[in-house]
Amino acid sequence: MTSFLNNIVHLKSIDSTNDYLVRLYKKYDFKKELVVVANEQTSGRGRIGKTWFSDLNSLTFSLSKIVDSKFNMWSINIITGLAVIHALSKYNIKALIKYPNDIIIRNKKIAGILTDVIHVRKQKYCVIGIGINVNNNVFPKQLSMVTSIKNIISNNIDINNLLHMILLELDKIFNKDLDFLLYCHHLYGFKNYVPCIYNNCRIYVKILTINQDGSLLILTDKGVEHQLNDVDIKFLLD
Ligand code: BTN
Repeated sequence: MTSFLNNIVHLKSIDSTNDYLVRLYKKYDFKKELVVVANEQTSGRGRIGKTWFSDLNSLTFSLSKIVDSKFNMWSINIITGLAVIHALSKYNIKALIKYPNDIIIRNKKIAGILTDVIHVRKQKYCVIGIGINVNNNVFPKQLSMVTSIKNIISNNIDINNLLHMILLELDKIFNKDLDFLLYCHHLYGFKNYVPCIYNNCRIYVKILTINQDGSLLILTDKGVEHQLNDVDIKFLLD
């Protein structure tokens, strides 16, 4: 069994660690799995076309995984979210997953996950990018609901150590069956009402369950159940 820990490349500066890996597979016929860590990203990408802010106090890395057809983007999201949550728990930090792929502590975002799935010469690769605000002190003004681990626990964390903990957890979880219920238990809003935007309205909902395809079953505060996808709902932090 290969471990992510045995295949790490450190880069000083790169546009985006996700884009770097996608290029390796698409353009350069690279075929192995790899972890790429960057001190600096000049064009870090977030979900839905957003940019990802990071500085030298952040952990920014991507890893690739050759997957078979049973893996979809959702299984990858679930595995990665759980790995980050478990790694943080080793530091006694209780984090939650804000559906679909934000990691939050005390109602503030500390990390995000971006998954690209690519098909190259009949092989399916997942490129999983993880950005974590580790020892950051300052953020751009517009990022009001964002914080760092340091701001929460008032201590610096060794960034490389955190990377290793996450990769260890990923090794473990990739080799197990997916535990949807465990994932649910770490979701912000699982069985308790939280605010969200749904159908252009701000309402309170709770998550009842998640399905294999990543869709959610939610219950509104008016007692109505809905099945929906990540594009249909935006959970809000109070
Ligand atoms: C999000 O919350 O929108 C996802 C953010 C993902 C950021 C990481 S940082 C490492 C990797 N490289 C990127 O360009 N993005 C991801």
